[in-house]
Amino acid sequence: MTDLSTIRDEALGAVQRAADLAALDAARVAALGKKGSVTGLMKTLGGLAPDQRKEFGARVNQLKGEIEVALEARKSALSASALAAKLSNERVDVSLPARPEFASAREGTLHPVGQVMDELAAIFGEMGFTWADGPDIEDDWHNFTALNIPPDHPARQMQDTFYLPPRADGTPIVLRTHTSPVQARTMLDELVQKMLHDGGSLRVIVPGRTFRIDSDATHTPMFHQVEGLVLDRTTHMGHLKGCLVDFCRAFFEVDDLPLRFRPSYFPFTEPSAEVDIGCSWKDGELRIGAGDSWLEILGSGMVHPNVIRNCGLDPAVYQGFAFGMGIDRIAMLKYGIPDLRSFFDSDLRWLRHYGFSALESVR
Ligand code: DAH
Repeated sequence: MTDLSTIRDEALGAVQRAADLAALDAARVAALGKKGSVTGLMKTLGGLAPDQRKEFGARVNQLKGEIEVALEARKSALSASALAAKLSNERVDVSLPARPEFASAREGTLHPVGQVMDELAAIFGEMGFTWADGPDIEDDWHNFTALNIPPDHPARQMQDTFYLPPRADGTPIVLRTHTSPVQARTMLDELVQKMLHDGGSLRVIVPGRTFRIDSDATHTPMFHQVEGLVLDRTTHMGHLKGCLVDFCRAFFEVDDLPLRFRPSYFPFTEPSAEVDIGCSWKDGELRIGAGDSWLEILGSGMVHPNVIRNCGLDPAVYQGFAFGMGIDRIAMLKYGIPDLRSFFDSDLRWLRHYGFSALESVR
């Protein structure tokens, strides 16, 4: 009988003391293995009288079960602490910066279009402009009619339009051919109308995607424009000139950059002007700045009274100017990128060469 309780204490003590799974297995073998202490007790049963065998056998069996339960409990405790130790040893600080040798190999770049949009936002932002947006899929009214281009107007042929299937109610739908429809969307905005009514001044730029059926070295079916709109009770052509002179000089980083305002025609402005910047060519290379040549970079004008009226405002009260500029084109000019189509090839070598660091400040 002493035997049984000594064996019990030894076996359960070994299980409790096991510091890892190997030691636990050794404790199992020592008690329940072929030559184990409990197995040894089982072997003595054959030599006992039948009623003793029955009673003692039951106690040995109970001990065996008790040890099995202890083994199982110890095993799960050891596995849990082994996992916890592993988790804390292999802990990774995901907030650490990448090691320099990997960081330089993986660094992405900002596309020149995004970079130039950021530059536009910074320069016009300083002049009090905010950024406005409109949909790429536009209805015919916003894209044309509101802008003083009625259905039979020859100006519709000026732009090679992608027409989409009309809406269920018959509304004709296009991929917007310019960012100008956002002029109308902005003027129609209730809060903008209230702000204007209260004597405020509307100043927005609208950078975004535009679409025309056109494809060669200087035209892609999708391209980018930035629209500008200023509207209040007093803005005049002098403001238009001053704003665009300041913008071009800041953007091209040439303080005395000459600008030429050439009379032109757009249905949505009157009078209208196209703007050229001074440049020169040397050995086939373009230099932007005072020179003997001119480059056209944007269209502009005083917002046509019909447009103001179409957008629910009184042209006898409100006036202002608008302009539209190709973002890809000014990016090509500023950064010396020769082929427009390469902008949209997603060629990593091109992006590394012409891309910008995302962490560099814009101005
Ligand atoms: N929407 C014109 C175009 O895509 C560009 C333009 C010209 C916009 C004159 C204007 C403007 O706002 O005043 O060709």
